[in-house]
Amino acid sequence: MDPFGRTIDYLRISVTDRCNERCLYCMPEGYKGWAQRSDHMTADEIVHIAQSATTLGFRKFRLTGGEPLLRSDIVEISRQLWELPGVQTLGISTNATRLESFALPLKKAGVRSVNISLDTLDPVTYRTITGADITPVLKGIDAALCAKFEVVKLNCVLMRGVNESSLHPLIEFAAAHDTPLRFIELMPLSRTDVLNESNFISVGEVMQQLQADGNLEPLVDYRPGHGPARYYLHRSTGAKIGFIGALTTPHFCESCNKLRLTADGKLRPCLGRHGEIDLLAPLRSGASSAESLLREAIANKPENHEFSDCYEPGRPMTAIGG
Ligand code: 5AD
Ligand code: SF4
Repeated sequence: MDPFGRTIDYLRISVTDRCNERCLYCMPEGYKGWAQRSDHMTADEIVHIAQSATTLGFRKFRLTGGEPLLRSDIVEISRQLWELPGVQTLGISTNATRLESFALPLKKAGVRSVNISLDTLDPVTYRTITGADITPVLKGIDAALCAKFEVVKLNCVLMRGVNESSLHPLIEFAAAHDTPLRFIELMPLSRTDVLNESNFISVGEVMQQLQADGNLEPLVDYRPGHGPARYYLHRSTGAKIGFIGALTTPHFCESCNKLRLTADGKLRPCLGRHGEIDLLAPLRSGASSAESLLREAIANKPENHEFSDCYEPGRPMTAIGG
C-alpha cells in the first residue's frame, strides 16, 4: 500500500532508452541524451530487481523502452521474468516494427499481453508521426494476432491536426481484428515545440463525437491487461475502445497501481512528476537492496501527477519508459 491507500503491484521496466522511431510526442528532435550501454541494466539486474519486487507483492510486469525489441536479450529477459514465482502477468509495449519475427518467441517465453503503438493506418501520416515506414508494423501486428497472446492492444495518441482523420479507420481496423483500441490523451512529455496545447484533444471530445449517434455502450467490467483505460463498445462496428484521459479524467490517479523503472535503473513513482530514486547505483555498489529502494519508491508515490500545473518534462518519454 502506498500513502494514499493504493496497492502498488505493477512494475513497468524500460529495458532501453533507444528507439528506431522518432514519435513526435516522445522523442525530441535531434535527441542526443542516450544512456551509455553500461548504464543500462543488464538482464541479470532486471531479473534480480523483478524478483525483489515479487517479494513485495508486485504481480504485473511490463517491458517497455524506448523500443524493447531492440535489445538482443529481450526474449531471454521475458523468459526469466515469467519463470519468477509470483509473476502473474507479463506484458510488452512495442512499436511493432520488429514484432514480425519476435511475436512467436516472445509468446513462447511467456509474454501474455502486447501493447502496440498505432496512431494511424495512413502510411504518410505514419511517417509524419514516427519518421518510419508502416509496412513492417502492420506485419508485426498480424504476427502478434497469429501468435494468440492473451491480449493485443492498440494505442493511439490523440493529436489535433495530425491524426484526427485516422480515428475512424483505426476503429474499423480494431473491430475487424477483434482487438481493443485505446485512445490516449497527449501528455506533455517530449520537450519539443512540435506539439503543444493546440494539438491536444481530450478523450471527452472523441467520446462525444462517437456518442452522437448513441454509439458507445460502457463495458464496465472489461479491463484487458489491467490498464487505466475505461472501455466502451462501439456499437456500429463492434470495436472495443478504451479511453485514457490522464489529463482530463477526474480522479485518474486514484487507481494508479504502478511504479516505473528507467533503463538506467531509476525508480520513477509517477510519470508526471520529476521525483526519481536511483536503484541501480546503490545496488551495484552494494549500498542498498532492491527491496528497500522499491519500498522507498512506494512510500514516495505522489497522490497525483502535475501535468496540468505547467509540468516541464525533465527527460523525454523514451528515457522514462512508455
Ligand atoms: N503522450 C501520450 N502517450 C504517449 N506515449 C508515448 N509518449 C506519449 C505522450 N507524450 C504512449 C505511446 C505508446 C505508449 C508506450 O506510450 O502511444 O503506445
Ligand atoms: Fe519509440 Fe515508442 Fe517513443 Fe515512438 S513512442 S519514439 S515508438 S519509444
